[in-house]
Amino acid sequence: MNSFKGKKILLCVTGSIAAFKTCELIRILKKEGANIQVMMSSSAEKFIGSSTFAALSGEKVLTNLFPNSPIGGLEHIEMAFEIDLIVVVPATANIICKVASGIADDIISTTLSVCEQPLLFAPAMNNRMWSNQATQNAINQLKKMGKIVMEPEDGQLASLHTGKGRLPAIKSIIFEIRKLFDYPQPLKNKNILVTAGPTRENIDPVRFISNRSSGKMGYAIAHESYKMGGNVILISGPTSLNIPTGVNSINVENANEMHNQVLKYCNDADYIFMTAAISDYKIKNFSKFKIKKNKNNISINLKKNPDILKSLNGKTKAKIIAFALETNNGKNNALIKLKNKNADFIVLNYANEDGAGFESDTNRVTVFSKNKTFINLKKDRKDRISNKLIKFVLKNK
Ligand SMILES: Cc1cc2nc3c(=O)[nH]c(=O)nc-3n(C[C@H](O)[C@H](O)[C@H](O)COP(=O)(O)O)c2cc1C
Repeated sequence: MNSFKGKKILLCVTGSIAAFKTCELIRILKKEGANIQVMMSSSAEKFIGSSTFAALSGEKVLTNLFPNSPIGGLEHIEMAFEIDLIVVVPATANIICKVASGIADDIISTTLSVCEQPLLFAPAMNNRMWSNQATQNAINQLKKMGKIVMEPEDGQLASLHTGKGRLPAIKSIIFEIRKLFDYPQPLKNKNILVTAGPTRENIDPVRFISNRSSGKMGYAIAHESYKMGGNVILISGPTSLNIPTGVNSINVENANEMHNQVLKYCNDADYIFMTAAISDYKIKNFSKFKIKKNKNNISINLKKNPDILKSLNGKTKAKIIAFALETNNGKNNALIKLKNKNADFIVLNYANEDGAGFESDTNRVTVFSKNKTFINLKKDRKDRISNKLIKFVLKNK
């Protein structure tokens, strides 16, 4: 079985005798295709050596917030973008209480304070540590924060006491992880049309005008829509990206071709994500032959391309999600576009912001609905932005 194929799991090990049991967990997760990054607290290193985890995970183990030879960037912050799920196994009373109160004083608690991925704790501790009011308060707080805290098992403890505090069985931890990766399917039986990438408008047989769109945002939306159960058609301008699994793709080159394909499929669509950066203008007089370098100045006349978004008016029952890539006065421009184009939602992002807009693997967006609701989505990987965007659309349609 490869049910965790391609998933990136951050596995945090804290200072409990049960730390050795984490080896078996890594073995199973790896066997099922997951990539594991282990992080250890300094107490955990008293129980088991980092070399064991490095060997089992095939990755360097992160043990220190301030390593002896710091690398460029901040490993624990970069983690926030790369990881799909975080599990703390075993979770000490200490880490539970620290995360619940926002303490960030070592590599694990600091990482957990910046990451927003699903977070699962599998506690192991003495029964009195478990029933301690402070621990119980922290667990309630974590649950309120949306974190998952498993119940430890009853039985004989390392301290030779009997009671509740044993690490949950590895198979129960695997079961919880599986549940967290189980995607809900809110788009089941829905047809999703996504446009992505740039368009190219030919000047002559060897030259064109285009823009910096990489297609990453549209491809991420297409893939997330598929994972949520949708039947997805991706109409893509030229990009260097692989077609996401499960998505039907149609390649186009220029705005006219994009327009024809959108009109062909819009009728059956339930949701249309107009993510492509379609050229506003095309060349008025395409030169059949390569333009020669024999003049000091030449000018190219442009004429307007069809307004694909506007042309959807009255042609589809689909909810239309438009995009506005702005450099300034973003909110105003986005709201005007939302109204003028008669879209249901508009996703505002900025071309001149680090880690957002074209080409970047991450984005920061604000989504406005025509019902006057909105959501700000903090800078994050484009797949996670897509996931939150789709959920917002479903909730506010
Ligand atoms: C032998 C021994 C076993 C321990 N086992 C546990 C345990 O199972 N659970 C727990 O919460 N703390 C346990 N502790 C205490 C933690 O290691 C201690 O609270 C430490 O500060 C936890 O740090 P960490 O959460 O950063 O790993 C144990 C300590 C010792 C000396």
